[in-house]
Amino acid sequence: MENRKPFYITTPIYYPSDKLHIGHTYCTVATDTLARYHRLKGEDVMFLTGTDEHGQKIEDKAREAGVTPKDFVDAIVEGPRGVKDLWKLMNISNDRFIRTTDDYHVSAIQKIFKKMYDNGDIYKGTYKGKYCKPCESFWTESQLKDGCCPDCGRPVLDAEEEAYFFRLSKYADRIQHLLEDTDFLQPRSRVNEMVNNFIKPGLEDLCVSRTSFSWGIPVDFDPGHVVYVWVDALSNYITALGYCNDRYHDYEKYWPADVHIVGKEIVRFHSIIWPAMLMSLGEPLPKRVFGHGWLLLDGGKMSKSKGNVVDPYILAEKFGVDALRFFLMRTFPFGSDGNFSNELLIQTINTDLANDLGNLVSRTTAMAQKYFGERLPAGCGATEGEKKLAQDSAAPGTFAIVASGGPKQFDAELIALTAGLRGRYEEAMEQYAPHRALEEVFKVIQRANKYIDENAPWALAKDMVANGPRLAHVLYNLLEATRICATLLTPFIPDSCDKIFAQLGAPEGARTWESAAVWGSLPENAAVAKGENLFPRLDMDKALSELEAAEAEARKAALPAVETEPQLEEKVDFDTFCKSDFRAVKVKACENVKKSEKLLRFTLDDGTGTDRQILSGIAKWYKPEALVGKTLMAIVNLPPRKMMGLESNGMLISAVHTEHGEEQLNLLILDDKIPAGAKMC
Ligand code: MSP
Repeated sequence: MENRKPFYITTPIYYPSDKLHIGHTYCTVATDTLARYHRLKGEDVMFLTGTDEHGQKIEDKAREAGVTPKDFVDAIVEGPRGVKDLWKLMNISNDRFIRTTDDYHVSAIQKIFKKMYDNGDIYKGTYKGKYCKPCESFWTESQLKDGCCPDCGRPVLDAEEEAYFFRLSKYADRIQHLLEDTDFLQPRSRVNEMVNNFIKPGLEDLCVSRTSFSWGIPVDFDPGHVVYVWVDALSNYITALGYCNDRYHDYEKYWPADVHIVGKEIVRFHSIIWPAMLMSLGEPLPKRVFGHGWLLLDGGKMSKSKGNVVDPYILAEKFGVDALRFFLMRTFPFGSDGNFSNELLIQTINTDLANDLGNLVSRTTAMAQKYFGERLPAGCGATEGEKKLAQDSAAPGTFAIVASGGPKQFDAELIALTAGLRGRYEEAMEQYAPHRALEEVFKVIQRANKYIDENAPWALAKDMVANGPRLAHVLYNLLEATRICATLLTPFIPDSCDKIFAQLGAPEGARTWESAAVWGSLPENAAVAKGENLFPRLDMDKALSELEAAEAEARKAALPAVETEPQLEEKVDFDTFCKSDFRAVKVKACENVKKSEKLLRFTLDDGTGTDRQILSGIAKWYKPEALVGKTLMAIVNLPPRKMMGLESNGMLISAVHTEHGEEQLNLLILDDKIPAGAKMC
């Protein structure tokens, strides 16, 4: 298809410093939904995502983990349950995936840096200021919030080093104009934030190289400097199309991007620094930057360091990929922040997917099959009058006035509302409001469910001779409304819509954008097949507790398998050591101490001829009867100690370590041939 309109859409490229969480998933699912929407409209979409792999934070994390930075990021990007696996699981349809460690990107960045240097926009100076390591951001004193990073609130470091600077200040006026006088940045509310916080106080030149660490792209004409990670990262949007490299060749076709979708905290980089870099390079600017809100947990931002991240794998595995995709797009207005909760997720699945959509599909297909077998009878489809009504109702904002009362009105209302759906949906999607597009689809789904109740097909079916044709027409209308809804839901829940189409018997031609505006596109004789229940209803309490158990299990699995206490630095002299009297002891009797969950009471043969009693807090790990007859090791010259009213004379020796966060204890059990009382030395 030659004449399709190109559409270039991107997500931010992710930091593989930790595994991705539901916030990252939100951003990528939203971008995927928009990309699929443009494909549905027949556009030639290029959807790019990837990973942003350089910078001090990753260098530090790799050092902590004892691996090279490249091995560190490889594991998170390519490894099991890593970035690529997550996008595959979430059914993300990106056309390209860029890693900033890819060779073609590295050499392209060196060329881009040199171009800006050659045209006088990059110069050498001394950097003095504040640096937020976790955010990889430089700040001036005046930008700090209570002395801390204004983005993440963490302390900043003093930084001073020789560095290259980019003449950002030179572009201040052009950027202000871009932000204030065009639609470049959306939602509009973000414009004031940028202009008031960053441009009006005076845009300072930007430090664009570092010498204090090495995990970055080297400035090829001045070794020792690495390119500032944001210059490296932002350029991904053009290097991934072949700018300054031969790996790809579609820069001419797709650039400028139609939209960069980004989270609100990185709007600054995309709406100030990125356009200035492009101005310096003499390249066109992206048409739009859209800054979406954050998913919050208990009102705060999710972050690994706060330990409050939500794992998308667990949710997708528990509830299904489409249910999770749907929830993210349906619940949170895209430009604003939203509070994530498991209750809300389960509630949305039950209300919208199980009750509304799932019920419509299953009731409609089940009744069609029950009353007519596989196919509805000929003549059940859209009448000429209905087709005309649909056409008249298709323009956004119009809604047909229909006759009052009775079956004709029910039909007309359903048809008019459904016929106008594509227009209302498109308007919302074009305004980056997928949540509103879904609202429109669900109004139709709810209307269709009401239409079932109004027409009571089960009552019509009681007299098939008199009502058969009417019943068939009612069911056709329901199949048709469901088909149009499913077509428009495809970008949101692609797999489920394929299943719905199969149940409706909708051929390819009745799944298209065009056919979503034409009432009557479903052939009358479509082969209806009731299938599996797409979205089973969840029991809130049961689902919540299963989820909590799965999350606890995952947290446990993420802890180090085995941990032992570090060895003591302080030395003990030999004489002191020899003062401890370790002996082999044989267990004559062992029982739980009454009213204590922890203590076991041992009666031991220590070789002296008199029984020794020791109390030991090991009931969590041992059943008393299993220890009788064993030869253990005890220190016997500790002063006596009273526990639960009983005297303990000594201590049994055991090995202690931590496994997946839980303390484990093993008694030192000696060979039985060692006699009671043998000294350990
Ligand atoms: N590497 C940079 C982007 C460079 S683009 C040239 C980066 N990476 S990130 O992994 O930290 O974040 C990627 C995206 O995920 C950002 O758009 C960010 O806003 C988004 N989110 C991270 N946590 C989020 C939420 N809790 N909620 C919504 N989006 C969030 O920034």
